[in-house]
Amino acid sequence: MSDQSKKDKANLFIIYIIAFVAALAGLLFGYDTGVISGAILFIKDQFNLTSIVVERVVSAVLLGAVIGAAFSGSMADKLGRRRSIVITAVLFSFGAVGSAFAPNIPALIACRFSIGLAIGVASYVAPLYISEISPPDVRGALVSLNQLMITCGIVVSYLVDYMLTLGQNEWRWMFGLGAIPGIILLIGMIYLPETPRWLVKQGLIDKAKDVLSRISRGRDIDREINDISNTLTDKKCSWKEVFDPWVRPALFVGIILAFFQQATGINTIIYYAPTIFEFAGFSSHRVAILATIGVGTVNVLMTMVAIWLLDKLGRKPLLYIGMAGMAVSLGVLGTAFHLTDLSGMLKWICVASVLFYIASFAISLGPIFWLLISEIYPLKVRARAMSLATVANWGFNMLVAATFLTMTDKLGKAGTFWMFALISIAGIVYCYFFVPETKGYTLEEIEGRLRSGYWLRKKH
Ligand code: BGC
Repeated sequence: MSDQSKKDKANLFIIYIIAFVAALAGLLFGYDTGVISGAILFIKDQFNLTSIVVERVVSAVLLGAVIGAAFSGSMADKLGRRRSIVITAVLFSFGAVGSAFAPNIPALIACRFSIGLAIGVASYVAPLYISEISPPDVRGALVSLNQLMITCGIVVSYLVDYMLTLGQNEWRWMFGLGAIPGIILLIGMIYLPETPRWLVKQGLIDKAKDVLSRISRGRDIDREINDISNTLTDKKCSWKEVFDPWVRPALFVGIILAFFQQATGINTIIYYAPTIFEFAGFSSHRVAILATIGVGTVNVLMTMVAIWLLDKLGRKPLLYIGMAGMAVSLGVLGTAFHLTDLSGMLKWICVASVLFYIASFAISLGPIFWLLISEIYPLKVRARAMSLATVANWGFNMLVAATFLTMTDKLGKAGTFWMFALISIAGIVYCYFFVPETKGYTLEEIEGRLRSGYWLRKKH
């Protein structure tokens, strides 16, 4: 093996470690959104809560996430990507310990809200950081490590909830355990480098070169610095520039994909899977929770498949396959509920369609939304535009979560799932006409294509 290829291998290994540590932010995102489903049962009993207070405890994280994503658009630009993740790690850890020791409900809501702030920032800074540090040929896989960690965080939270349901007052442990990955993330991020793209943006060219020399595999460092600098006419970015006409196609793609990721019902499954299984006729809580752990596990496994395929097949083919699968499974799920007699075979059809649905989401909209919003924006407005798409994502998430049960009352369960199926079909059409393929391009090439107005054209 030549010296160069040995060095390339070593650099690739370093990039994987960097991406893995940053993706722990995704683990916290998944854990902290998933853990509430089990914890809330205990909290409700201990404090004798009304439904309205339960809703407040549950939605404090979502509200925090919307606000966190909104107000930190400039944070990643001013403080840097790395420092922003360090701050979220501190917030995650304090929030976890604070929730574990919360003496009363207002204190618990405040701690959950601060965890939400951290999730809001982390949900876009982690993919942004990984995307800016990755070489183009493995960027899809590396950024999607973050989504893999989100799904692992969700399953771990389900398992922790399940195991801790045996004792009393265990909700404190459920929340407190979130401090462990928080502290690991904090320690890890202290040692990781800043991204070369942010460094160039700050005029810190030597530092950027130094980072690139540790992570670039046989690429010409001076040329890369040049390409990055050429995308920056001047360093300051205002919100007005985010809405510049040439940036708008990318802006819409991020916001509209956020809509499709959430309005096709993913979190009705993630937050309400046990409820859906009980609707379908499983009377025992235990079976419903076990089925939910199954859903979480399929989510993890299929995200691994996505990671393997993203840089081979490309983003768009996976979006088509996944959304088609989502539409079919939602159609079947709706029909299973429509044919009211769910006692026999039909309840198994219901489980199978939920599993097929989650598998389809996991190879498409799950990872690809976060991946695309880390790739499609020009460097100058990237952090702000990404934070906008993230706010939209959390906003739609909150809206769907808050209206799902009412929707099933008004439209019926069948009607609700059919509606999600139709939205999935609309998503396929939208992707065909408006979403660019980013596989294999450097971030600077993607920006060049957007600027030239030809970013939907195929590569020759
Ligand atoms: C979504 C979350 C969802 C999770 C499930 C993420 O990509 O943004 O809303 O809970 O996937 O795996």
